[in-house]
Amino acid sequence: MSVQSEVEMKFSDSLVAFIEEWKNKPGNLIMILHKVQEEFGYIPREAAKRVASMLDVPLAKIYGVVTFYHFFKLTKPGKHNIQVCMGTACYLKGGEDIIQELENILGIGVNQVTPDGQFSLEAVRCVGCCGLAPVMVIGDEVFGKLTKEQLPEILAKFQES
Ligand code: FES
Repeated sequence: MSVQSEVEMKFSDSLVAFIEEWKNKPGNLIMILHKVQEEFGYIPREAAKRVASMLDVPLAKIYGVVTFYHFFKLTKPGKHNIQVCMGTACYLKGGEDIIQELENILGIGVNQVTPDGQFSLEAVRCVGCCGLAPVMVIGDEVFGKLTKEQLPEILAKFQES
């Protein structure tokens, strides 16, 4: 099955309806790309092409927006996306050390995915629980008051799932 047909298959009715609804409204591109990322976890090239044709805008315009806003991802995240908070409180409590340790353990840098597709690593802004700094989020689980020593065990738990 080609990537294109795979993506087209997964363009849900609700996504198509959303695009139709926003097509002619101001700020539509951002709203639509948010929705696309919600559906796929990132902005696949074939999805970007399809949005471009549905909105009748050049593909370059879509990529202009996607690359300008750091929120949008162009590569598929790992099965478990690790977000390390680099907001002020977490930074001051050693968020950078957490990132470095994760890079060592996983053998990847920030914004990369492990070769087995299990983990991806992101540095994010304040996730809203500064009292627990330093904080890391994997999926919907929040790990607070984190130490480097806890990381191998936490990762092992996700590796199995
Ligand atoms: S700075 Fe990390 S949760 Fe707020």
